[in-house]
Amino acid sequence: MLKVQRGFQRYLGRFLSSSNSNMSVDYSVQGSVAVLEVNNPPVNALSHGVRLGLKTGVEQASRDRNVRSVVIIGKGQTFPAGADIREFGKPSKEPWLTEVGMAIEASPKPVVAAIHGTCLGGGLEIALFSHYRIAVPSARVGFPEVALGLLPGAGGTQRLSRLTGLPVAMDMISSGRHVPIKKAKEYGIIDEIVTGDLMKAALKFAQSIQGRPLKDRCLMFKVVPNADKLEEFTSAAMAQVKKKYKGYEAPVVCIQTVRASAELPYEEGMKLERDLFLQLQGSGQARAQQYAFFAERAVSRWVMPGGSYKTAKPLPVRSTAVIGAGTMGSGIAVCLLSAGLPVYLLEQNEKVCMILNFKPTLNYSDLKDVDLVIEAVFENLDLKRDVFSKLDKICKPSAILCTNTSTIDINRISTATSRPDKVVGTHFFAPAYHMRLLENIYGTQTSPDTVATVMKLGKTINKVPVLVKSCHGFLANRMNGPFNTESLFLVEEGASPQEIDQVNEDFGMPMGPFKVRDLSGIDISWRINREVAKALGTTITKETKFLGGNRYCGLNDDFFEKGRYGRKTGKGWYLYEKVGGKIPTVDSETEEIINSYRQRRGIIKRKITPQEIFERQFYSCINEGFRILEEGICNTPEEIDISWIYGFSYPKFRGGPMFYASQIGLKRVYDRICHYHETCPYSIHWVPSRLLKKLAENDVPFSQWANHISKSRM
Ligand code: CAA
Repeated sequence: MLKVQRGFQRYLGRFLSSSNSNMSVDYSVQGSVAVLEVNNPPVNALSHGVRLGLKTGVEQASRDRNVRSVVIIGKGQTFPAGADIREFGKPSKEPWLTEVGMAIEASPKPVVAAIHGTCLGGGLEIALFSHYRIAVPSARVGFPEVALGLLPGAGGTQRLSRLTGLPVAMDMISSGRHVPIKKAKEYGIIDEIVTGDLMKAALKFAQSIQGRPLKDRCLMFKVVPNADKLEEFTSAAMAQVKKKYKGYEAPVVCIQTVRASAELPYEEGMKLERDLFLQLQGSGQARAQQYAFFAERAVSRWVMPGGSYKTAKPLPVRSTAVIGAGTMGSGIAVCLLSAGLPVYLLEQNEKVCMILNFKPTLNYSDLKDVDLVIEAVFENLDLKRDVFSKLDKICKPSAILCTNTSTIDINRISTATSRPDKVVGTHFFAPAYHMRLLENIYGTQTSPDTVATVMKLGKTINKVPVLVKSCHGFLANRMNGPFNTESLFLVEEGASPQEIDQVNEDFGMPMGPFKVRDLSGIDISWRINREVAKALGTTITKETKFLGGNRYCGLNDDFFEKGRYGRKTGKGWYLYEKVGGKIPTVDSETEEIINSYRQRRGIIKRKITPQEIFERQFYSCINEGFRILEEGICNTPEEIDISWIYGFSYPKFRGGPMFYASQIGLKRVYDRICHYHETCPYSIHWVPSRLLKKLAENDVPFSQWANHISKSRM
């Protein structure tokens, strides 16, 4: 345990230099007002230096006879956006945030929090300890700690409810949502919305409240309104978080702690909050969620041969086009449109064009001036090459040509054009308007500027872009391959689809692989398998047991032949309440299809434990992840983890497959992979990765994987 924590601290340390313990608050007196200006870019996080500076500043203002009120304000882009996450897990240095807050609340002179940007977490706690709060219209407030596996640990859970009442406090703290300032005023969090220069408005406001009695403005003396409805509010909030944040510990603890604000005296509530904060902070979920926070930011620091995020220049994208108005194409168009980008949607079928509310077109010539095109036609190399060759002839020379292919090597598509440097993969995940991963793929000739353009575009359309090198299946689908095929082999050998789905859902995946198959369509995977076979120069028959030298399971084909395509036909691996239905139930015909398949192939059903189900799906995918790293398809484990979190809704509280592997222990993972390699010799994906072997044998902690990854490629 201790080792894991130390490793994790070293991991966080990789991201930033050690925190500045000098005071990071500028103190000045303007007339009769003391101004404490927090100066800790980029987000004015409440590091030790800021806490010290605020406490010292408030005390100095109390002593200064010329000062009659105090303003706390952030320099630069924001009011403090929370505690300094880099300090978590390190020995805490006084003053703690609660002590700072208590000094503010105890000030004999009124303290005004003047808010702009994002006033979050510990920042909002500082504001709630202040006697007054004013803000500019564009500011937002919130308690996002829950997203880091925590609760607000400096009075937030005990004080917000005294101001807003229980339902709002429970909702804000358990969801972590950012509240726009107009709403925050309605909730009673903000006293006044000010326009124009915030400093001037704050000084004016601070002068206007000088000499007023302060006791009424101290939240610790207030009682929580409507506390008699405590049970009703708590059960409603609990039911909501258990449904919405299944598997996450922090939202439940947040509700329990806010509840205590109405049940316990203030000091006892504060103590309970502290204890529960420390309990959550020591949990595996908080470690994983904090890792994911930094990992999400780390993936934007991309590197490729010949360029990086530091050197490459994104080209301007003012107009776009999407080729193909199928499910993916129209979803992508909605993403672009939502970000304010004009979109041409090119489609062959006139009927499809009529129903869409943006620039539909049947003519390639309309695309001659667009800056960027995303092709989203059916997954077929010849078809894609044909589209790219047409685009190359029509589009202006500077236009970037993207493909939404989910598997095909970009180099095989880019050679259909005279501008392979401007061809790049932009792989969206279904449903495209909802899933946040944008897997950007570079080919051997893609230029860094082209990559910079699609990485920037990803952010513009509110996606999380991850850069990978082209190979068959890229990162996400390549790892998903063994994960999915193992689930089929497990059914072949004896497990039921619902047993497998249950193991996945218990782990935290929102849906098991069989429910996902029913959602995405069994006919689609049937068609893709035929494309794969065609590319390999072979065909799939009832007897096919190997495809491209790898073990093949034909169960999916049997379901396809029975017309069971999934939700769209009302039945697939499960039975649905109607065609297009969403509620799966177990169907006896499913069992019959599986049994007759086993009989035909002479397979004797055996009992498979949940542990084996878990290991075969999740460890095979981890093994593939290590191969992806050793081959240089991506550079860091963070890129893999973020791809799974945002591409396949992998539970954030597990950190991602690679982080999770580090928490189980690589030696254990490696040993089990070797075991399955011996027992399932015909599955190529069980051949243990060399990199994994080396890391496991040398017991390398997660924070030092990076060195070994780069050496493994030399
Ligand atoms: N501590 C330390 N570093 C932080 C930080 C924090 N609270 N918040 C952001 N940063 C760092 C980021 O890691 C990033 O660093 P790099 O540039 O080195 O990658 C940099 O600040 C800028 O952050 P973003 O790229 O995220 O910038 P943005 O403008 O897109 O978003 C933001 C700004 C909305 C504030 C976002 O950074 C954010 O949501 N931060 C986290 C806020 C948070 O969770 N606060 C609660 C902290 S826990 C707490 O306060 C507990 C308590 O009660 C005691």
